Amino acid sequence: MLDTREQATPTGTLNPHLVGADTGRLQSALAMASELCAEYLREADRPRSPRSRPELGFQIDSVDLAQPTGDLGQALQELREVWLDHAVWYHHPNYIAHLNCPVTVPAIAAEVLATTVNTAVESWDQATSAALIEKRLLRWTAAQIGFPTGVRSGTNADGVFTSGGTQSNLQALLVAREKAIKRALSEETAPSRSQVFSKLRFFATGNTHYSVARAAHLLGLDESALVKVDQDERGRIDPNKLEQALREAEHQGDLPAVVVATAGTTDRGAIDPLPEIAEICSRHRVHLHVDAAYGGALLVSPARRNWLVGIHLADSVTVDFHKGFFQPVACSAIIFRNATDLTHVNWFADYLNPEFSERLNLADVSLQTTRRFDALKLWVTLRTLGAECLGEAFDRCCDLAQNAAEQIRAQDCLELLDEPQLSTVLFSHRAAGNLAIRDRLFDSAEVIIATTTFRGQTCLKFTMLDPQMTPESIATVIDHVITAGADILEEQH
Ligand SMILES: Cc1ncc(COP(=O)(O)O)c(C=O)c1O
Repeated sequence: MLDTREQATPTGTLNPHLVGADTGRLQSALAMASELCAEYLREADRPRSPRSRPELGFQIDSVDLAQPTGDLGQALQELREVWLDHAVWYHHPNYIAHLNCPVTVPAIAAEVLATTVNTAVESWDQATSAALIEKRLLRWTAAQIGFPTGVRSGTNADGVFTSGGTQSNLQALLVAREKAIKRALSEETAPSRSQVFSKLRFFATGNTHYSVARAAHLLGLDESALVKVDQDERGRIDPNKLEQALREAEHQGDLPAVVVATAGTTDRGAIDPLPEIAEICSRHRVHLHVDAAYGGALLVSPARRNWLVGIHLADSVTVDFHKGFFQPVACSAIIFRNATDLTHVNWFADYLNPEFSERLNLADVSLQTTRRFDALKLWVTLRTLGAECLGEAFDRCCDLAQNAAEQIRAQDCLELLDEPQLSTVLFSHRAAGNLAIRDRLFDSAEVIIATTTFRGQTCLKFTMLDPQMTPESIATVIDHVITAGADILEEQH
């Protein structure tokens, strides 16, 4: 049959390069990209290149964007020089800094498919079965949490995929804010929305992820509306202090809208005592949000699922699949125990998701409009490998953190600051500056570790999120830290 597409637009120089025009071209492009991936993944012999920011900046600025190469092979060749030769490789055993994970191969295959089809999931007429796949995975995640998912339970959990923990937390706090305002107005605690607004209080701790404070700001609350509850020695919410803080707020006529508990704080991996917190929240009729962006992977852990005891008592839970579920960025979800909570974010547009539509339009409950089919990679990973395999890998990361802690304890020049609670390790060099060590290692391009603060002091941090690491590879990184510390001290004398 005659292909009329090229004839209809003889001058369209882009047409042959669009998907659908020439599948041979697509296949050869994917083969080139795949070859390049394999080459770099095989050959990355350090976590980054030593090139400095000015050098990289010069290289990138030297590319003339007005002069296309006209050839993918050449464009990819150029890309090697400006990016791949200098990329940060998270699968390298000497990368041990942040919550980045090596990703599963089935997920990458799914990403290629999701990108090629370019599914946008926001409305039924753009998404069809993709929307159903997302819904099914939301129910699956809700079931892992222990939320009600059956019709017989009366209420049903529901949620939405998001761009990450930051957006998931924002959505949870938005819902909590709206619930609190609605209740205050219905109970006539305050006469107007603006008066309720000034009384709203969000409860968190000093270890809560910064996205919560930012979300409070975005939601129109000023700094004093975010109440910091005291923690215990291990960095977990102290339930007695929470009770006290809520009582004080109520006594002053304020309106507690949400308590944010964390299952796996970013630095210490601390998991708040969820059953006690849930009991307090229920008594005070406050929305309990659990930020399990990091610790959510324990939901599928064969060895440590019990660490999340009580998570099913939350009103909403953030889970980041792009952390401990080994999925490519972005892949996160916010799940509400009660689906009707999502009505607080409902927004409708005639062209896309009209009100009262009988169709499944995911835009009804999302803060985004155009949205990637990020659920697909998790689907393909689960259908290929299963959940237990992911949980075991996360367990291994936690075991590796214990191992690293033991190795650090055995070194005279290093001080272990905190027993690992999940897969991070906080420690300090006893004599050399921690920031100087981190920078020296980064500049050498041999090792990438992180720094943060612990009890007001800058410290070093390992984040284990690569189950391929070994005690030996950790020992190598620790050797680098010790050598960097010694070199810094020698230079100072
Ligand atoms: C506990 C916690 N919550 C939320 C976030 C934010 O997640 P994202 O980076 O996916 O927005 C992080 C990121 O590290 C985190 O550790």
